[in-house]
Amino acid sequence: MVKDSQTQPPYFNIDPDRALQELDPPVTTGDFNRIAEVCTRGREDLASRGMNEEGRKSLRLFSTWEITRYLIPVATPHFRRVLKAHPDLPQGRSETEGGAKWFTLDEVLRLRAHFATEGSKAKEYRPYRPDGLPAKMVAVANFKGGVGKTSTAAHLAMSAALDGYRVLVIDLDSQGSMTSIFGGKVDDEWDTVFPLLARHYASHLRRENQGRIDRGDPPLPFDDTLTEALKVRSQDLIQKTHWPNIDLIGAQLNLYWSEFQIPVWRMQARGWKLWDSLTDILEADGVLDGYDVIFLDTPPALGYLTINGLAASDILLVPLGASFLEFDSTGRFFDMLHSTFASIEEGENMAARALGREELAFEWDAVRAVITRYDGAQQGELASLIQAYLGRTLSPHRQDFTALIGQAGEQVSGIYEADYRDFNRETYARGRETFDATYAAFKRLLLGSWRRDELAAQAEAGVA
Ligand SMILES: Nc1ncnc2c1ncn2[C@@H]1O[C@H](COP(=O)(O)OP(=O)(O)OP(=O)(O)O)[C@@H](O)[C@H]1O
Ligand SMILES: [Mg+2]
Repeated sequence: MVKDSQTQPPYFNIDPDRALQELDPPVTTGDFNRIAEVCTRGREDLASRGMNEEGRKSLRLFSTWEITRYLIPVATPHFRRVLKAHPDLPQGRSETEGGAKWFTLDEVLRLRAHFATEGSKAKEYRPYRPDGLPAKMVAVANFKGGVGKTSTAAHLAMSAALDGYRVLVIDLDSQGSMTSIFGGKVDDEWDTVFPLLARHYASHLRRENQGRIDRGDPPLPFDDTLTEALKVRSQDLIQKTHWPNIDLIGAQLNLYWSEFQIPVWRMQARGWKLWDSLTDILEADGVLDGYDVIFLDTPPALGYLTINGLAASDILLVPLGASFLEFDSTGRFFDMLHSTFASIEEGENMAARALGREELAFEWDAVRAVITRYDGAQQGELASLIQAYLGRTLSPHRQDFTALIGQAGEQVSGIYEADYRDFNRETYARGRETFDATYAAFKRLLLGSWRRDELAAQAEAGVA
């Protein structure tokens, strides 16, 4: 009987000689370079399409509809009346005579400031931010790749900016995705957090060497990298982005070098508290006073950069998809978090106990797992199961899968940069709703933790 070739799977009857004819010569190391160069050219071509004449990314304009619906809580007619009554306020521009008015985000922020001082006292125009307290640091992490860390961090950063907060984004991933989203320019590791970590180590080493010299011991090597790093300030690394109230410390492939350099430093000077480096430096440079919220995007690994980001963070978000493998992997991630931080605490506290000093105990304001790319039709059962096991550790909001994320094109990254006119309004509203709700769930954690700090500070002041 002759089998119908149509019903045969395609992996039958492949002729080895034909296959050989189709095969290219073996691949060498040099070929990787060729492939990488092609990718770089393609990337530059794609990225340049989203840039303005100066080769920078630019942010779209915001319409009266969008402003009054999403950004400033006033009715559209009232918004128009206020603008008319105040010709000095930004008036927007329209594409056609008498058409809808469009504003830059800078203008929206100015308008919001006006409503905040002149408008109804019953409404919240400006988000809560207690005076005198430092910025909150938020790390988005999971050692599983592709779970939505960067998308979640980028959208939260944009939401917070639209909400009126001053935002800093720090890219700790040498893949540099976050840096691309915010149009950052990073030449080498000296434009990344690397010199800040090096500076922290260098300061430690200087103190340690002084002690060695005093004891008559030979000092540890202090190379050019460390000397250079001592001159770098956080402000030298912070770049403006196309968002008026989002700044960036970018990343680039060379940042990966830190993963090799840090353990060498740790071996040299065991007393160096690497997990404190990011917080200490940002604090020393006054960065924590200059912003409201700082988002740290981390690589899909629990390496030294991630440990630094996690230790620096006040709020930790752990994105995961509602699938068995991602749940499984996330469980292991928490297990690794436990063993990593427990071993740091143990190492520190042996000495602390012996000296009768206060013991080190890491603490976070809040830790939440967040379901991302959720498909209610397919994943409802698994998501409920994850919910049942994780309980309050799981954020109550599930971030839906939305075509608006991947398809927005090369110029724009995600839903807040997309022009709603490019989409069906219904699709847009639903996509936006899920990210607004992701932000709302996060903002509750943010405000709750700030409020806790504020009350603690007041109680302390009252006692004093
Ligand atoms: N809510 C969503 N709806 C649809 N697609 C999404 C959503 N969130 C993320 N994605 C897509 O999923 C993919 C992975 O997302 P992302 O890059 O944010 O993950 P990641 O955890 O940062 O990855 P990595 O581990 O490589 O850093 C991307 O293609 C992104 O566009
Ligand atoms: Mg990422």
